[in-house]
Order: sequence, then C-alpha cells, then structure tokens
Amino acid sequence: MEQLLQQLEQYKQEIAAAEAKTPEAVEAFRIKYLGTKGLLKTVMGEMKNVPNERKKEFGQILNEFKQFVENKYEILKEATVESSSALANIDLSLPGDPVLVGTRHPLSIVRNQIVSIFKRLGFAVAEGPEIEDDWHNFGAMNLPEDHPARDMQDTFYINQDPAWLLRTHTSSVQARVMEKQKPPIRVICPGRVYRNETISARAHCFFHQVEGLYIDENVSFADLKQTLYFFVQEMFGKDTKVRFRPSYFPFTEPSAEMDISCLICGGDGCTVCKHTGWVEILGSGMVHPKVLENFGIDPNKYTGFAFGMGVERICQLKFRVNDLRLYSQNDVRFLKQFTGVV
Ligand code: PHE
Repeated sequence: MEQLLQQLEQYKQEIAAAEAKTPEAVEAFRIKYLGTKGLLKTVMGEMKNVPNERKKEFGQILNEFKQFVENKYEILKEATVESSSALANIDLSLPGDPVLVGTRHPLSIVRNQIVSIFKRLGFAVAEGPEIEDDWHNFGAMNLPEDHPARDMQDTFYINQDPAWLLRTHTSSVQARVMEKQKPPIRVICPGRVYRNETISARAHCFFHQVEGLYIDENVSFADLKQTLYFFVQEMFGKDTKVRFRPSYFPFTEPSAEMDISCLICGGDGCTVCKHTGWVEILGSGMVHPKVLENFGIDPNKYTGFAFGMGVERICQLKFRVNDLRLYSQNDVRFLKQFTGVV
C-alpha cells in the first residue's frame, strides 16, 4: 500500500511535467493515461489488493488522482486548440482583405451575347479544331486548290505543308457538322481564326468569328434576312437599320454583306463608318449547291443559308474599341473597364 502511494506520487510528477504541443500528442496523452488500457485503469485495478480498512482512504486518493489526470488533459487540449487556431491571435473586428474579382474579356462578353441570341432562335453551338486540313477549310467550301478566292484569306500553313493550316474561318466547323449530321441543321460556330496579316489597329493575325448555318427544306433568302435582322435588333437595339449589299463568297450563291446604321454617329457620318453612315458587320448567303453536294445533301431537296461575323467588329461598335491590338495586349486598365457588363 505504501509502495502504491509512492508510485502514485511519481506518476503525478510525471503527468504534471507532461507536454503536448500538437493535437496528436494530446491524443497520445489521453490514450496513455485515460484510455481503456491506460494508467488510470491499471491503478484503479489495484483497489482489490488494498486491505478493507484502507479502501475508503485509497478510494479518495484515487479519485483525486483521476481528477488530476483529467484536469491536465483538459489543459493540454485547450492549449493546442488555441495555438492551432489562428483565430486566437487575430482581431476579429478588423476589416477583411479585399477580394480581387476578375472581369470577363470584352470579346467573351460579346461572343456570349451573340450565342445567346441565336440560341433563342434554336441554333446549337458547334466547335472544331483550330488546326485544320485543307479540305474542311477550303476544298469542301467550294475553294479548290487553284481557286483565286483563296487569296481573300491569307493562310498560315503548318510547317509549310499545304495540307495542314490554321483555320481561316469557322466555316471549317460547318463542314464538320455537315459531314456528321443530316438536315435539318441549325448551328452557330464561335471560335478563333487566323490570317497572315500584318498587325495594326485595323488588322490582326488572329481574330474571332461566329458563323452560322441553317439547312432544311424550303429555307429561303427571306429567312436569312429576317434571322439577321432579328439578331441586329437584339444586339444593337430596335432603332438600328440594316441593309444588304450583293457580294461574293465561293461557298454561297447568292451572297450578300450586311451593313448596319453606324452606332457611333447614328448615321450622320464619322470616321468609324468612313462618313457613309453604314458599317459592315457580316457576310452571308445561300449555301452553294456544290457545298451541299460535297456532304451528300441533295440540293434539290434542301436549301440553306450561312453567315459569318467578326466578334471584334461587333465589340468595336458596342464598346467603341478603336484598336484591335488592345484585345490581346492584356492591359488590365483596358480589361477592367468591362466590369459589370454581363
Ligand atoms: N467565311 C466567311 C469569312 O470568313 C464569312 C461567311 C460565312 C460569308 C458564311 C458567307 C457565308 O469571311
């Protein structure tokens, strides 16, 4: 019995000196002293060896010991919670650090607006590769190898291999859709395109397009006009006027370019519209029968219209951006001006 009491005294010293700096160490302390096979249980097991007349006395000592161990455990636990929680040392009334919110690129904003307008008309979105083969970019679009209209789009070839190129328009995506899908087809193809042009305020070696294609029975030029007119009204407002001018594209016949009344001067004449009051925004036309035939679509049964516009141009008119280079310079002073615009 005396030996036991002495032992307890020793344990107490050991426990008083115990340190635990991490939650894991605190847990190890708990297991060692308070666990189901811990020291406290072992010591309590000694009760049976204590003579009856001293059981009461020993019981009290054991109780105190138990309290002592439990107290120590609580102290250790609290200390680690406090030190591991950074909150303990922080003034919670301090104002928070400002969160820098990024902004969408103006071209993304405008592309999303274009896409959402055509989606409401039932157009689906199609995407395709930026590295294309000659067939999908040119051949299938009724531009055979020696066709002079290839000069309309200065092309970047991959490793000087004329079979592979960077797509010059997203008509290549329309080709891929016609290859896989039978009419009715109603898709828009947003994406980046590349042309070998010297970079200036008005030209760039890459830009962005949204092209559209609608093929079904009885699709007419009137459908084309009405669809694009609806687009202009939604995009630029109900007062915007449109006009169509005859044009030429190898993949459409007849073809037309569409102008809208200049948004900058309201049609009075300014530098953006070169004092004409009109600004060209897209090319369009009825899909050439040869293009349909290239994909096994019977031109006697089906007709279709197609159009293609540059996102940069639409963006210029909406946000009055007068230098194409601004779009890819990543100057945050430019980019953050579009905060808050959907
Ligand atoms: N693919 C033409 C271009 O990039 C645009 C266009 C598309 C014109 C469809 C007519 C019909 O210039």
